[in-house]
Amino acid sequence: MSVDPRTLGWLSRALTHEMSAVQQYLAQSVLARLWGDYALSSQLRREAVEELQHAERLMERLIVLGVAPSAGNLPPARLGRTVEDMLAADRVLEVDAVRLYDEAVAHARRMRDADSVALLEGILAEELAHVRELDGMTAERTSHD
Ligand SMILES: [Fe+2]
Ligand SMILES: [Fe+2]
Repeated sequence: MSVDPRTLGWLSRALTHEMSAVQQYLAQSVLARLWGDYALSSQLRREAVEELQHAERLMERLIVLGVAPSAGNLPPARLGRTVEDMLAADRVLEVDAVRLYDEAVAHARRMRDADSVALLEGILAEELAHVRELDGMTAERTSHD
C-alpha cells in the first residue's frame, strides 16, 4: 500500500496534539487534587483518558499504515493559577484541535482515503463536544460565583 506522506504528517501532528492534551489534562487534574478540588480533579482525569483514547486510535491507524507512532515535542502543560485560567487554557487547546482535525479531514477527503476520513471525522466530533463541555463548565462556575 502506498501511503500519502502528507496524510501521515496530519496523523502525526494529531498524535502530538493528543499527547499534549493528555499531559495538560493530567497535570491539571493533579493540581486540582492538590487544591483539594476532588470533583474537578476527577473530571479533568476523565478528559485525559478521552484524549489518550484519541491517541490510541491515531496510533492504530499509523501502525496499520506501516508507520511507528512518533509524537513531536510536547509543549509544557498550561496549569493556570485559578480554575478559570485552567479552563480558558483548555479551551484554546480544544479550539486548536478542531482546527487541526478540520484541515486533516479536508486533506484525507482530497486523497479519497475513506478510512482516515472516518477516523479523523470521529475525533473531530468529540473535540467539538469538548469545546461545548468546557463552555458548560465555565458557565456553571460563573453562575455560582
Ligand atoms: Fe483529542
Ligand atoms: Fe479534546
